[in-house]
Amino acid sequence: IENAQGQDAEVLLAAPRGFCAGVDRAIEIVERALAKFGAPIYVRHEIVHNTYVVNDLKAKGAIFIEELDDVPPGATLIFSAHGVPKAVQREAQQRGFRIFDATCPLVSKVHVEVAKLHRQGYEFIMIGHKRHPEVEGTLGQLPPGTIHLVETEEDVQRVQPSQTEKLAVVTQTTLSVDDAASITAAVKARFPQVRQPKQQDICYATQNRQDAVKVMSPKVDVVIVVGSPTSSNSNRLREVARRLGTESYMVDSAEDLRPEWVQGKSRIGLTAGASAPDILVRQVIERLRALGAVSVRTLEGVQESMKFPLPKGLKLDGQEAS
Ligand code: F3S
Repeated sequence: IENAQGQDAEVLLAAPRGFCAGVDRAIEIVERALAKFGAPIYVRHEIVHNTYVVNDLKAKGAIFIEELDDVPPGATLIFSAHGVPKAVQREAQQRGFRIFDATCPLVSKVHVEVAKLHRQGYEFIMIGHKRHPEVEGTLGQLPPGTIHLVETEEDVQRVQPSQTEKLAVVTQTTLSVDDAASITAAVKARFPQVRQPKQQDICYATQNRQDAVKVMSPKVDVVIVVGSPTSSNSNRLREVARRLGTESYMVDSAEDLRPEWVQGKSRIGLTAGASAPDILVRQVIERLRALGAVSVRTLEGVQESMKFPLPKGLKLDGQEAS
């Protein structure tokens, strides 16, 4: 790749990028279950929304299913990082599976919060993407009709809670920070007494990756996001770059990268969604080098130190007492 002046192109890496603590933990749960109980291990829904990760675990003996009917009696079943409705949890227990819950603790935190406020008589407006498994999991924590889903400011005008005295906002963890803020403002404008979460529900990883793209976008000619099409937070990263006026594309693997996206560009920004493994980033870098990029530089960004404990019963031999 060369720019118009014939100089070689530089790759700028966003920081932080890639795996978050919830994804790390979810993958480790599947790997440990495989090591401890042997294949096959059943996983409800893609453990995290990434093609490479899912294929890798399939090769190691994980079977991904959507319906509990597809899990044989006595099997080991893992719930994906996105969380599950209460009804699914109950049914899985009734069927007697050995269950491990890889729901991200930051999603579980939202579940705990809605259950608590529900006991106090609250109804909810949830900002999120229809049919995303996290949204279905959160909606499914409470009886139908208790959480009203809105995707846009227009939806906010249409929503019909049964009362407005006790109304709270809740959001998906992987939304666009900016969209969530404007939709929340629309909710507040329509229902001034609405209760907002003390800390936003959008997680640290989503916030940090979007912030990093905001820092990077003005410095580069194009932003490449490594992430699968199903990954909400990865899609948001591409959106953030485009809204800042920077060309941006998402790739599920290095092969997806089209030479014309980077041709003639001096600076190529690269980031990865929270479910995209580092190996894919390295492969994209190799491909960019093959296309002529000469240097790689990581931008400065916040350091992340979040780590979540594994569920009980997954320590490997000799570690159980620790
Ligand atoms: Fe959890 Fe956020 Fe990652 S909700 S799975 S830490 S993107």
